[in-house]
Amino acid sequence: MRPSSRLERIPPYLFAELERKIAAKRRAGVEVISLGIGDPDTPTYAPIVAAAQAALADPGTHRYPTNRGRREFREAVAAFYERRFGVALDPETEVMPAIGAKECIFNLNLAFLDAGDVALAADPGYPVYSAGPLLAGGEPVLMPLRPDAGFGFDLDALPAGARERARLMFFNYPNNPTGAVAPDGLFESVVAFAGAHDVLAVHDNAYSETTFDGYRAPSFLATPGAREVGVEVFSLSKGYNMTGWRCAAIVGNAQAISHYWRLKSNIDSGLFEAVQLAGAAALAPERDADVQAMNALYARRRDLVCEALAQAGVAVRRPRGTIYVWAPVPPGFDSSAAYCEHVLEHAGVVISPGGAYGPNGEGYFRISLTTPDDQLLEAVRRLRELPPPAALC
Ligand SMILES: Cc1ncc(COP(=O)(O)O)c(C=O)c1O
Repeated sequence: MRPSSRLERIPPYLFAELERKIAAKRRAGVEVISLGIGDPDTPTYAPIVAAAQAALADPGTHRYPTNRGRREFREAVAAFYERRFGVALDPETEVMPAIGAKECIFNLNLAFLDAGDVALAADPGYPVYSAGPLLAGGEPVLMPLRPDAGFGFDLDALPAGARERARLMFFNYPNNPTGAVAPDGLFESVVAFAGAHDVLAVHDNAYSETTFDGYRAPSFLATPGAREVGVEVFSLSKGYNMTGWRCAAIVGNAQAISHYWRLKSNIDSGLFEAVQLAGAAALAPERDADVQAMNALYARRRDLVCEALAQAGVAVRRPRGTIYVWAPVPPGFDSSAAYCEHVLEHAGVVISPGGAYGPNGEGYFRISLTTPDDQLLEAVRRLRELPPPAALC
């Protein structure tokens, strides 16, 4: 069976590969602890589940949804954006449900790229920013995140020709995988660039609710002019422990959303209405306390990991957002993948190689904080005691 040449252009998805390796280790009797994928280990907040149960019992949710979405969901998203970010959205034209941010980000490529068009993609970045353009017949051009600039990117440093061919730009703060928050002035520079070059700016807002130390992440749409040039993809996956539910929204530029709607009405049949009603319940002000409690848990785990890494001689910056710690690979390893293989082989701990998020992630590894405390402590103990590569020769 020969897959399409489009599919041949992309590597296997990182976590699909990792799952295979973990299964092999477990079969060999190793007690593997995974700090790999960012998938919250605690359940969806009980009132959200209760709202879903009630919605599920209502036959009115059992039929095909519309891709425009239920009024309750669109209004809940708009009310949340107003309350949380000070951004006023028209629930009729500027909000639409998505079946997770991943679906939305991928499909935007189909909606906006022709063959040979460019999508600018943060590097390191969520892998779909580059796999999406490739699968859509376009070309990703990477925007290196610069550690010396707070992991911002420099739009003046794009390769020749990229500006002219760019139709889309994908970026994300608080940032996966680096944990960085949006550097001052970056969103403003994106608005100016997107306006000047007729690019749709797509801010992936997957982690705005997961922040620490008093930091509150802004919406890209709060930047003056952002709505004229961009959209934001807001996911409920991480902040509300809803990764399995596939619940997200695209908000912002009405024309862009309308193109996305036209595409989706030919591809899928929308987000299950019971999930939309659960999403609406999640975004109510009453759930803010649950989000804060989760953030306190992640902040505690972050400190635990950062302290253990510091004791092991690995210098790390404490992230103010996301569920990840981004750390430099210790000396003695040729690549981040080699280090992660070494850690899995000798400590039975799964961590993600920075290189899997793009060439500019090379030299780093990522630890996810979505593992119960006892396992996280055990993983950290194993990492501290890991023999250096030389000792194994
Ligand atoms: C930056 C970023 N965007 C999007 C997603 C996926 O979100 P969703 O579960 O809504 O598809 C993730 C998941 O890890 C992510 O890290």
